[in-house]
Amino acid sequence: MPSPGYFITVEGIDGSGKSTQARLLAERLSQEGELVTSVRDPGTTVLGERVRALLLEKSGSPPPDPFAEVALFLAARVQLLREVIDPALAKGALVVCDRYVDSTLVYQGAGRGLDQGGLLELHRLVGASRMPDLTLILDLDVKAARLRSDPALPLDRMEAEPTAYHERVRQGYLALAPRFPERVVVLPADLPPKELAESCWRVTRERLTARRAT
Ligand code: TYD
Repeated sequence: MPSPGYFITVEGIDGSGKSTQARLLAERLSQEGELVTSVRDPGTTVLGERVRALLLEKSGSPPPDPFAEVALFLAARVQLLREVIDPALAKGALVVCDRYVDSTLVYQGAGRGLDQGGLLELHRLVGASRMPDLTLILDLDVKAARLRSDPALPLDRMEAEPTAYHERVRQGYLALAPRFPERVVVLPADLPPKELAESCWRVTRERLTARRAT
């Protein structure tokens, strides 16, 4: 049975402004009177926030094997789905999620060379096959994204990956649009935050209106 809620994910390379835009979109939807649940992946649940810290810390010890990395992201995601996303959607909420399955497809798939079909199959096997209704991909040049980061803040383990890795991630995102045209919209992110927020809002309103008319 289709869920009565609506599931929106916001994606993009590090520095694309995605967390700000996810927050602004959730605020705008709330102002419009919608019931909104905001989450981040990995995170939000206690387990997810712990896994997030494990995944992003630069411990000095050997980095996780790519499959161990996938397993950890997946563990956080399954918990987030069961504990927060599924119940919120069942109540008819609009869920705005900062990153989700597409991050795994591009950071571990396109970025680390893992098979994307296999990654989706893994999600299915662990009961995490729910896909978003709408995915906004904020597209930005890797160098421009890097320039946005505050030089006073240390880079986390993923941010510290070389430019070529982040370039593969960006191209991986762009390749998702023709693959999932029913849900993925790519938005140019080299705009002032307010203008980008307006684009995110316009696309979301259009899609939501169309969904509710069916
Ligand atoms: P991010 O959500 O961008 O948080 P912050 O804004 O605090 O840096 O950081 C999460 C990092 O984890 C980001 O570099 C992308 C990466 N990631 C993956 O590699 N795979 C995944 O499945 C997810 C959800 C995130």
